[in-house]
Amino acid sequence: METKRWNAVDSGNQQGIDEAAGLLQNGEAVAFPTETVYGLGADATSETAVAKIFAAKGRPADNPLIAHVATKAQLQQLVSTVPTFVDKLIDTFSPGPLTYILPSNGTCATNVTAEQSTIGVRIPSHPVAQRLLRKCDLPIAAPSANLSGKPSPTTADHVWQDLNGKIAGLLDGGPTGVGVESTVIDCTSEIPIILRPGGVTKEQLQEVIGDVMVDPALANAVGRPKAPGMKYRHYAPEVPMWLIEGPAEKLAEVIAEERENYAKIGVIASEETSERLCADQVISLGSKESLTDIAAHIYDALRTFKEGDVDLIVCEAFPEKGIGLAIMNRLKKAASVYVPA
Ligand code: TXA
Ligand code: MG
Repeated sequence: METKRWNAVDSGNQQGIDEAAGLLQNGEAVAFPTETVYGLGADATSETAVAKIFAAKGRPADNPLIAHVATKAQLQQLVSTVPTFVDKLIDTFSPGPLTYILPSNGTCATNVTAEQSTIGVRIPSHPVAQRLLRKCDLPIAAPSANLSGKPSPTTADHVWQDLNGKIAGLLDGGPTGVGVESTVIDCTSEIPIILRPGGVTKEQLQEVIGDVMVDPALANAVGRPKAPGMKYRHYAPEVPMWLIEGPAEKLAEVIAEERENYAKIGVIASEETSERLCADQVISLGSKESLTDIAAHIYDALRTFKEGDVDLIVCEAFPEKGIGLAIMNRLKKAASVYVPA
């Protein structure tokens, strides 16, 4: 299949957005930018359209998709109830990087929800996503637009590397802003539960609605996570990665020791730490003073090291507060070895 690519940087190119919307209405799969990562979209009401997403990504069928809509009114059309606290969350954080798990009313195809009774719904804020959703006037099921298991795409080139020839189209909106996926919050229990940390932090949620829990399966790495997607190894770079907690000296020690076992070593770290390390290739994620900046660059860094470039990646760990919880969740999943302090 030939994949059409439109330039919609700065959210221009109405014609590209119109064509992409037309393909979605015709049951095709099209990738588009959101404020978190690129999504691979298809008509959420059509089982055959949604099947194309699973086929292109090689995604396991038991992992449900998020339905994307432009407005709160459209969100309400997909679920059977919206509790009062969710109403508050929507008014505060949507459009934005927050996904609500609510009881489904059956409007979306069964392969969107992986036959569960609940559905994840999100209102993305990216201007291209907003215009696309408004134009096609459909709920759009969209996982991240990467091959299953690979780091999520934060640029159109990342999507192109993974899915060129496998999907009908790709809207290029430039690099995404947040850089990690939306926070997934289960709103079906009395106290809402964060199933996946993401762009909206636990602290921000607590400020608006008080009590919020974090799925214990996230901390233990044992037990069955309630977000089915969280049980798979994800975001993996092409070479083994060690995630190291502690100061620059600790990373330097690991690099020195592993020189014997690995010919070429790459580093992924904050600017401050990377300046103090000597390795074959060093990627700086930005200042550790800004975890927001670090989040924006992690997926690109994980994709940069290719097999053959280096034999081992040594990566710095970050504090698990604010968006750091999402950063560390992704890094732990990407890492083959985790060395706590
Ligand atoms: O930021 C994002 O959320 C991006 C952009 C494209 O919107 N999308 C995204 O989708 O990350 P995906 O499919 O890569 O991750 C969705 C996560 C998975 O862990 C999935 O298991 C969980 O949400 N999920 C979806 N529906 C669910 C449901 N009904 N119950 C529990 N977890 C659900
Ligand atoms: Mg994903």
